[in-house]
Amino acid sequence: MAAAGSAIGLGSIWKFPYVVGQNGGGAFIILYIVCSLVFGLPLVMNEFLIGKLSGRSAYGAFRALTGTNRWQWLSWVFLVSVIVIMSFYFLVTGWCFYYMVEAASNTFAGMDAAALRAHFSAFEANALQMTIYAAIAIVLTASVLWFDVNKGIERLSKILMPILFLFLILMAAHMISLDGGTAGLHYLFMPDFSKITSKVILQAMGLSFFTLSVGMGILITYGGYMPKDQNVTSTSVQMIVLVIIVSLLSGMIIFPAVFAYGFSPSEGPELTFVTLPAVFQHMFSPTLTSVTFFGLMCVAALTSTISLMEVVIAFICEATSTTKHPLNRHQSTIVTALILVVANTLCILSMTGHADWLTVKGQNLFNSFNALSTNILIPVGALGTALFSGWFVPKARYQGSRVGSFLYLVVLRWLVPIAIVIIFLDSINII
Ligand code: PHE
Repeated sequence: MAAAGSAIGLGSIWKFPYVVGQNGGGAFIILYIVCSLVFGLPLVMNEFLIGKLSGRSAYGAFRALTGTNRWQWLSWVFLVSVIVIMSFYFLVTGWCFYYMVEAASNTFAGMDAAALRAHFSAFEANALQMTIYAAIAIVLTASVLWFDVNKGIERLSKILMPILFLFLILMAAHMISLDGGTAGLHYLFMPDFSKITSKVILQAMGLSFFTLSVGMGILITYGGYMPKDQNVTSTSVQMIVLVIIVSLLSGMIIFPAVFAYGFSPSEGPELTFVTLPAVFQHMFSPTLTSVTFFGLMCVAALTSTISLMEVVIAFICEATSTTKHPLNRHQSTIVTALILVVANTLCILSMTGHADWLTVKGQNLFNSFNALSTNILIPVGALGTALFSGWFVPKARYQGSRVGSFLYLVVLRWLVPIAIVIIFLDSINII
């Protein structure tokens, strides 16, 4: 459940719907589910096992299992990946806070699709406002880690996450009953395979890994905390099924609304934020419903940001422990928070047009970081962990279990690496 709390976040509720919308709907969803089961499941199990066998975090696990430093580079890939993700993730967490506040003050009452779009664009152009909300999200996350109240948050999220789940189910049921809502379901579940290209497959794989929190070493750390008798296979299956259900529910909420209220499936990253306020206005007690929804979205985002930031803090503590200037947890928390404030501010400045030099191939940093993590860093991290376990962990570690041998000798050694390399090279037009 802890791993599911980290995994279920903005990836499922914000990123999944808009990426599905940009990639044509049903066929993309099938790819997403196939990638999650065929590649995601073995990779999730593998990360849990690396953690469980080594009893270490992503930083120390590779050395503990092989006795050499040859795989340390992979920890650095994870670190870069997690920092790049947080550079835009906190920004979107800030959007959730802003929308919760706006919902509480009843701003959206009477707004149609055009007005809601204009409202988001105005917010997106306001660098100061976005910086403040992103900073609130960073400071909140850092405070939880600073005061070491993770346990309290975990207890709280054990109550709030099931409430989010129930809320999503009720919302999905409401959406499907909307006039025009079935067009959304049709879009979601009727595959049109002509929309599939290798770039689309890479996006589906990246999105699947992103939502499962796999390929970043995060689950290695969770595996390190697992009791010895915990069954890795059933834990992984449960986690993956939950993530897929929450992603699909988000799609079932957003797309009926898109078609019923005159939005376009390919609105982009603002999709969730422009469509839902249109729907809430016609629901029971609009203010209460929308504040609850955006509030729960903040909670889902925070359980993810806490686990992302924890990785960096633990990394800095461990990596500096053997140097002349070891940093303790509190110092590492401050360093991490400062790095994130700078990274998020750079993203914001490049989004709002205040720093034209901060673009990559004509894209602002927000879009570039988003694409860099999903399409490059996470697949590379996933490839690295598969190769590490398939080829370099001493065989004796997993002998004795038939599932284990199949997983390592067939799936992680060959299937996953070959698939990732082919999908990757094909999408950048090399093959
Ligand atoms: N899986 C999370 C989400 O879907 C994002 C995340 C990635 C969280 C990596 C933690 C670690 O929002």
